[in-house]
Amino acid sequence: MDGPQPGGELMNRILETRVLAPEVKYFRIEAPKVARKRKAGQFVIIRVTGTGERIPLTIMDSNPDDGWISLIVQGVGKTTRTLNELETGDSVHDLAGPLGMPSEIHEYGRAVVIGGGVGTAIAYPTAVALAEAGNDVVSIIGGRSREFVLLEDEMRAVCTEVYPTTDDGSYGYHGFVTDKLAELIADGPSIDHVIAVGPVPMMQAVAEVTRPHGIDTVVSLNPIMVDGTGMCGGCRVSVGDETKFACVDGPDFDAHQVDFELLARRNRTYSAFEYYRNEEFTEEHIHVDPVGSS
Ligand code: FAD
Ligand code: NAD
Ligand code: FES
Repeated sequence: MDGPQPGGELMNRILETRVLAPEVKYFRIEAPKVARKRKAGQFVIIRVTGTGERIPLTIMDSNPDDGWISLIVQGVGKTTRTLNELETGDSVHDLAGPLGMPSEIHEYGRAVVIGGGVGTAIAYPTAVALAEAGNDVVSIIGGRSREFVLLEDEMRAVCTEVYPTTDDGSYGYHGFVTDKLAELIADGPSIDHVIAVGPVPMMQAVAEVTRPHGIDTVVSLNPIMVDGTGMCGGCRVSVGDETKFACVDGPDFDAHQVDFELLARRNRTYSAFEYYRNEEFTEEHIHVDPVGSS
């Protein structure tokens, strides 16, 4: 379908860009209708060009008065890298949203928000909403090395404690976010709620750290999405042995009920196609067998 999706906006102008880390870029984009309605945990589906794929991106922040939303994009494949080449003054072809269920926000008490890599951008709006609801918010933000620890200043502005972690020990706590979480659970005070966003193995590991302690834990799932409106079934996940569509039932789910193995397997479905699409092909790479030759 060319043109905007129902409820979508066309030719959204980019008002600001900033490189935050290698292959990670911040965008402030004109999207007045989305800015008016969005809540923490919701996302948009963007098409960078009229013939491109639709990709889901979480809304990091918004300003309903000035009519913009902000996004943080990690370049991992064709569409995210094409988007990351755009600069202030360029436009994305269309943008639909806000989509998905907002994060459930209550006054839990002591809440820990965990972001792994670009997952921190997705967890940030939930940290803001939890703080606004009166929670004592602690955040653990991990990266492979110092340059991949995102939004530390923004998290410090809304959290009572912030623990940066790095896999290589180049900054903050030396270890995975889950190591720091286990330490916080052991040291107290007690934790009432955890939300974790990041790579699938990280979210699975967080679930296993909190499970024996019975700590209420939510993860924001990232299955492959196509339409984002519950029509195609592309984003189906298994939660408590029930099939759910992450785009309309989620993306937040009870971490202790998620079938992470299935999610990881389904996310690998198109890896071979993505690999070949990202390779540079010239005519001599293409060998066409005449029909019926083999
Ligand atoms: P492709 O060439 O299609 O894929 C490259 C690699 O990324 C492959 O390994 C592929 O398996 C993996 N991939 C593909 N789709 C997804 C996906 N949906 N989630 C995770 N990995 C994927 N990314 C951000 O950078 N910022 C965000 O705020 C953000 N929010 C998201 C919110 C939701 C609800 C979901 C489902 C995903 C979100 N993502 C976000 C991930 C982003 O949508 C994917 O990285 C993007 O679709 C990849 O498209 P591509 O064409 O660049 O890469
Ligand atoms: P990364 O692989 O560098 O990991 C970030 C941090 O997560 C690490 O520093 C570590 O603290 C933790 N971590 C990673 N593996 C772990 C494990 N096995 N056990 C415990 N902790 C672990 O992350 P990246 O390169 O920034 O990539 C971001 C990832 O987030 C991608 O895999 C992408 O698919 C995923 N992602 C998730 C969402 C979502 O909504 N959940 C959205 C976008 C991207
Ligand atoms: Fe199609 Fe969720 S993306 S049903």
